[in-house]
This record gives sequence, C-alpha cells and structure tokens, in this order.
Amino acid sequence: MAVDRIFSGIQPTGTPHLGNYLGAIQNWVNLQEKCSSVLYSIMDMHSLTMPKEPAVLRQNILDTTAAILACGIDPKKCFLFRQSLVPEHAELAWILGCITNVPRLLRLPQWKMKRASQNSEGTVGLLTYPVLQAADILLYKSTRVPVGEDQVLHLELAQDIAQHFNKKYGEFFPVPKAILSTTKKIKSLRDPSVKMSKSDPQKLATINIADSPDEIVLKFRKAVTDFTSEVTYDPAARPGVSNLVSIHAAVTGLSIKEVVHQATGLDTAHYKMVVAESVIQKFAPIRNEIKKLQEDKSHLIKVLEDGAEKAKELAVPVYQEIRRLVGF
Ligand code: ADP
Ligand code: NA
Repeated sequence: MAVDRIFSGIQPTGTPHLGNYLGAIQNWVNLQEKCSSVLYSIMDMHSLTMPKEPAVLRQNILDTTAAILACGIDPKKCFLFRQSLVPEHAELAWILGCITNVPRLLRLPQWKMKRASQNSEGTVGLLTYPVLQAADILLYKSTRVPVGEDQVLHLELAQDIAQHFNKKYGEFFPVPKAILSTTKKIKSLRDPSVKMSKSDPQKLATINIADSPDEIVLKFRKAVTDFTSEVTYDPAARPGVSNLVSIHAAVTGLSIKEVVHQATGLDTAHYKMVVAESVIQKFAPIRNEIKKLQEDKSHLIKVLEDGAEKAKELAVPVYQEIRRLVGF
C-alpha cells in the first residue's frame, strides 16, 4: 500500500494568532513527526486574491515563515516552501480550470463572502482560487490534507476535480482525503459568538502568538465573561468563560475537566489571569524564537528556496506526466 502524502498551506498574513496556532499549526507539527512525506506551503499566490501592498506581502511571507519555524515546523521533517517558487502550481491550475464548471465555483460560499468583504464585483483570481488550491494538492498526488471546517467545501472541489480528471484522462490522481482539525474553534475575546480572527476589527479581541506578556494580560483582563463569578464549562450558556477554559486546556494540554477542577474557588477575574499566565508561559519561547528568526532574513529566504527545490523534485515529474496525458 502506498504511504500517505500530506499537503497543507498557510496564507502569509504575518504572525499567526492563537486560533491559527491551536487550530492548524500545532497539528502540522504533530503530522510532520508521524508522516514521512509532508509538504507545507506558504501560499503567496493565494494572498494576491485579497489586495496587498507588495512590501507588506514580502514582509508577511517572512514573518509567517519565522512564526511557523518558531512553532516547531522543521524543514528536515517536511518540505516547507513558497508556493510561487514552484510555477507548476499555476500551470496545473490552468489545466484543472479547463475541466471545472463556472457555476460550481459561483456556488462556493467563500466567493460571495470574500467579494462582499472587499466591496467589489470580484476578480477572476478570487473566483478561481479554489482551482489553484486543487492544483496545490494534486500536483504532489497528495492523499491527505489537514483543513479547517471553512475549507471542507474547497477540498470537496479538489476531490471532484481529481475524479473528473481521472475519468477523462485515465486513473492518475489519488482522491485526497481531509484531516479535520479536532480543536474547538477559539472565540474572539471581545465577542465569544464569533471565532478569533486576524480580520476582527475589535481591539483586544485576538491574541497574536508574538504578543508581549503585558499585551496578553491586558487582552485577557478585558475578555468578555458574564455575571456569574464561578468558573464552569458550558459553551452554550456561558460562551465567554467556556472560551477561556478551552484556551487554558489547549495551551496546557490538560482536559477541560482537569482545568475546571483546578479553577475551583477562583472567580472569573482571577481565572482570567491564570489563563493569561498559561498563554504567556506557552508562547514565551516561541516569541523569542520568532524575534531571533526575523533578524535573519536571508536564512528565512533560503529555507523557502531550499524547500521549493525539494518540492520541485516531486512536482516536475508529476506535471510532465500530466502534460503528456492532456496532449501537450
Ligand atoms: P483567520 O480567520 O484569522 O483569517 P484563516 O481563515 O486564515 O484565519 O485560518 C487559517 C487556519 O487557522 C485554518 O486552518 C483555520 O481553521 C484555523 N483557524 C483560524 N481561526 C481559528 C480559530 N479561531 N480557532 C481555531 N482555528 C482557527
Ligand atoms: Na516527516
């Protein structure tokens, strides 16, 4: 039986937040230990679907790379590379776009949502970026793809495209399966009815993994709870306090039950500082490492280039075969 090949990507939006770490990056670190063939890509081409200043994008690519290396992604255990350095991603996207129906793309909820958030009619890139995602995955004949819930529909598109290609040109692509994150969504500290997000305009709602201890304390102090002072876990009735409990459990590795038990006798104001302290402890070494890595730009650039060389060794033969299959 063939071994799994894992592919996942992250958009270079700068230093990740606590939700990105607990929902995605932590899982990436675990998977690189368990699987012998793992590719992680900094998706700079996807980033162009949302308007960006070139200098900002360039800096974000380095900051995201520094952050995920600091979190424990190890280029000796996976291929970490920059998407645009492997042009076969774009070339395959063109071929796959030619077997993808426009109405199928128009139905994807992200098309509507992202267009609305940009206040625009939408670009071709924004409409077809899920086809590029399919190419990202299929270019390596990947079998498993770690995704968040919000990307499940896009993975289904990649599965459909793989099957469609196989039917048209003969069995070629494995149909990639999801590895769904089991972490509960981390909520905004200011409004626990929405997820923690980098695009949240509310101040103090989002913990960045490079925040200083003072910033972390301030954000938890201002976290929205309720009028009950005891610490209990009841996400429906007490979303704010329950979010604190989830964060505490996730960063300490303890169960929800253990964390709630430890908090017996504390009121929520004190408990907020316990959670803040656990987050500070967890991210202090990561924050230091991010700072160190950010000082060595040329090292970061080299990591991404070396990774791209290795990714190409896998991608080029697959793409050559695809060219032959479609008649190029
Ligand atoms: P954002 O909402 O900040 O734009 P993205 O949509 O770029 O984050 O998500 C990147 C990855 O981080 C995805 O795998 C997503 O599931 C995960 N993620 C994002 N926000 C959270 C959160 N609040 N809790 C858990 N995981 C999250
Ligand atoms: Na590995």
